[in-house]
Amino acid sequence: MSENAPTYQGPERVFSGIQPTGNVHLGNYLGAIKRFVAMQHDYECLYCMVDMHAITVFQDPAELARHTRELAAMFIASGLDPDKNILFNQSKVSGHAELAWIFNCVARMGWLNRMTQFKDKAGKHRENASVGLFAYPNLMAADILLYKATHVPIGDDQKQHLELSRDIAQKFNNDYGSLRPGAEHFFPLPEPLIGAEAARIRSLRDGTKKMSKSEISDMTRINLKDDDELIAKKFKKARTDAEPLPGELAGLKDRPEADNLVEIYATLADISKEQVLKDYAGQGFGAFKPALADLAVAQLGPIRNRFNELMTDTAAIDKVLEQGAARARTIADPIIKEVRDLVGFV
Ligand code: AMP
Ligand code: TRP
Repeated sequence: MSENAPTYQGPERVFSGIQPTGNVHLGNYLGAIKRFVAMQHDYECLYCMVDMHAITVFQDPAELARHTRELAAMFIASGLDPDKNILFNQSKVSGHAELAWIFNCVARMGWLNRMTQFKDKAGKHRENASVGLFAYPNLMAADILLYKATHVPIGDDQKQHLELSRDIAQKFNNDYGSLRPGAEHFFPLPEPLIGAEAARIRSLRDGTKKMSKSEISDMTRINLKDDDELIAKKFKKARTDAEPLPGELAGLKDRPEADNLVEIYATLADISKEQVLKDYAGQGFGAFKPALADLAVAQLGPIRNRFNELMTDTAAIDKVLEQGAARARTIADPIIKEVRDLVGFV
């Protein structure tokens, strides 16, 4: 547990959240879900569909419900064991909202004013952004600390939010914990699990942009729901340059599209980019793209088929999520009880 070890005494615990706001794509799978699956053997893990974060920007209610179930099904289809891990909806455990309010009163305006994601998302229309979008990082801190999670797998873009979570934990500990002997380290200072090797998958049409569910053209991304033919077609049409693949990493410099396809291949095959280049040095994209498509279809096809099967029985998915929420509450309840007590709520 490294830096928490001398102070925080609780167990190691992993928490992460994903917003159920759109189609799950290859970037989500390789950058997040695949890592979650690998981690389930080493940690007690909670994975949360953060529907309350989703509505910081208006969501059609029927779509939100569908995306939430689809995300849960995608987790399970990808190999996340719902008995081993706790899979649940944020809105089903009321402690998230309760702790978020307390954190609204702990975090400072100045801290939130520095959040770059809010600036990006609100853009020029700051006055029109929801209050929830501004307070979003406080809810994220509540998600994590409601379970006293010590480790948080996140993408690079969430680093600043996680630092804010640590600041909130620290200030809460100072303001309230220090008034009670033994509670000085009430909350752990959660650590990010970013992983140097965490994949950053980029758009198939522009190797300088990340693959994203908000990109308008569907040809920029591989959705986990895509059928085999569509996967092959998207790779075939992916933008590349005319050069063959180099034998070494240096040869990918200034070739963002080529670099991206090599990265996707390496991450899918669990090998290094160097190894991919060793295997394909001198070959053109006419040969590499079909090989990449075959690899992707072999890995994603079974996930998609399992996903489709799961989605034929949404009641079973709801049951998994309901059981997950019940398990989450058993961890959260004693913690929120102590929080109320520390704050002076009687
Ligand atoms: P988002 O789709 O932005 O809500 O992200 C959900 C999760 O997927 C987060 O952990 C992100 O870091 C990860 N993720 C999203 N897009 C990519 C991408 N293009 N490459 C790698 N990871 C990604
Ligand atoms: N903000 C995260 C994202 O957009 C999602 C999220 C919400 C999260 N709560 C979390 C991630 C708690 C990790 C831990 O990707």
